[in-house]
Amino acid sequence: MICFFFYALLVWALPPQQVAEHPVALAADFDAAQCTDCHAEKQQGKHVHSAMALGCTACHTVESKGETTRIGLMAPAGEICLTCHELAKVEKDGVLHRPYEQKRCIVCHDPHSSEFTAQTRAPMNALCMACHGERAKVGESVELFAGQKLSGEEFNQIPKIGLDPTLKFGHPMGNHKVADAPNPLQPGEKISCLTCHENHAATRAKLIRMTEYKGKKMDVCDACHLANDEANMAEAQKRADALEAQRQKEEQMRSKQPSTMPQKPPRPKDKKP
Ligand code: HEC
Ligand code: HEC
Ligand code: HEC
Ligand code: HEC
Ligand code: HEC
Ligand code: HEC
Ligand code: HEC
Repeated sequence: MICFFFYALLVWALPPQQVAEHPVALAADFDAAQCTDCHAEKQQGKHVHSAMALGCTACHTVESKGETTRIGLMAPAGEICLTCHELAKVEKDGVLHRPYEQKRCIVCHDPHSSEFTAQTRAPMNALCMACHGERAKVGESVELFAGQKLSGEEFNQIPKIGLDPTLKFGHPMGNHKVADAPNPLQPGEKISCLTCHENHAATRAKLIRMTEYKGKKMDVCDACHLANDEANMAEAQKRADALEAQRQKEEQMRSKQPSTMPQKPPRPKDKKP
């Protein structure tokens, strides 16, 4: 209740932003529940933003006068997400991912819905590689995702990582895998950029994750390598056990069965002539 009050106050205090004329005039008493008659796709997709349940006017302003309808946002695009979400805080050695710190939430997230976890505009690792992958040609502006661009200059300043052409390995060193390999820390899942990195904020440089393994907090590198070694050991043990079982079975068979060595036929008794 109190939350709603402050939210209402905040929204009231902010002038509507980015107001544009809506291509279709809507009646002054138009019921916003019917926006989806024409914009159904905003509520479709595998991952729909929970805020969509609050209706379009949780974020959009609608103002109809005579034959014109103007639709805007309750707050500038760089602030609107933070009217409901809090920016993560980090201790003094922590890092915020630059685009997150700059509140460019909608570069990575579709405000409405998408096919990917957390309504991101692309799946892992394509989301990260849109900014951190090399491009053959960088013009005035670089298209990241549909409708989301950066200036060529901004793009060039972002550190790039070199992967092999299949984008599956080559970072952070040697032939380390970054995709398409089982993640020993999360059985059933694949390794991705987010296995080692945080997406928004981290307590360590380069957004490196801390994780828990068998109840102990540790570096994600150590955790995964331990898990991987243990899985390999368990696999090796299983193989050794299977071999031993096989050997024992064979031994048993041998001791039970009559010898299969060809035997000479019993010598015919000497017939008395
Ligand atoms: C009769 C159909 C119809 C209805 C009802 C409708 N829209 Fe639209 N709207 C359109 C069309 C067509 C466009 C232009 C193509 C597009 O962007 O999808 C559009 C564009 C928009 C845009 C982008 C352009 C701009 O004005 O900035 C927004 C935002 C939008 N609509 C919001 C809404 C909201 C919120 C409602 C409900 C209050 C609504 N619309 C109701 C048909 C409709
Ligand atoms: C959580 C806040 C939020 C809610 C709820 C929301 N929108 Fe939006 N919408 C935005 C923001 C932010 C943008 C601007 C995106 C940009 O600049 O790329 C936007 C842009 C749009 C656009 C134009 C650009 C595009 O993505 O197509 C349409 C159309 C639109 N909204 C329709 C709707 C409709 C219809 C609803 C309700 C069914 C709705 N929105 C609910 C935040 C919201
Ligand atoms: C009107 C309030 C409101 C606004 C504005 C809002 N959100 Fe949300 N958002 C919610 C609620 C409520 C949830 C579900 C509870 C939670 O996870 O905090 C949520 C959840 C999410 C989730 C987790 C997945 C999900 O849908 O449950 C993501 C990602 C997200 N929001 C991104 C954004 C982004 C990006 C913006 C800005 C375009 C934004 N939100 C603006 C209310 C809002
Ligand atoms: C560089 C891309 C990027 C930017 C920029 C970004 N996010 Fe995210 N965000 C992600 C990814 C990726 C996930 C999903 C993480 C996962 O699957 O564990 C996520 C998850 C979320 C979630 C759901 C999980 C959680 O942490 O509660 C919310 C809410 C969210 N983001 C809000 C925001 C807001 C608000 C902003 C802007 C201040 C923002 N994001 C900026 C990439 C981004
Ligand atoms: C919109 C562009 C964009 C996207 C998308 C993006 N990043 Fe970044 N990333 C940046 C920028 C800008 C910086 C800051 C570069 C600098 O410090 O000069 C950065 C920095 C980083 C750093 C280095 C942080 C440090 O402390 O030096 C890492 C690691 C990183 N990003 C990982 C990711 C991952 C993982 C994803 C996908 C979830 C991702 N990025 C998606 C723009 C992006
Ligand atoms: C196995 C763990 C691991 C995975 C997976 C991983 N990274 Fe990294 N990444 C690191 C480490 C460690 C560093 C720091 C390297 C250093 O300081 O030399 C790093 C550094 C970075 C940097 C900063 C580079 C710079 O010059 O500052 C970016 C950007 C980055 N990673 C992006 C990504 C992206 C995008 C992906 C997914 C394609 C990814 N990483 C997957 C471990 C990983
Ligand atoms: C999600 C699991 C996982 C994480 C996290 C991880 N690794 Fe690995 N790493 C592997 C696997 C699997 C191999 C291949 C080992 C094998 O062949 O048995 C490997 C191999 C390596 C190798 C061998 C050389 C090479 O290029 O193949 C090095 C060095 C290494 N990792 C360092 C790191 C560092 C440093 C980090 C943290 C930034 C890290 N790893 C994080 C799974 C992981």
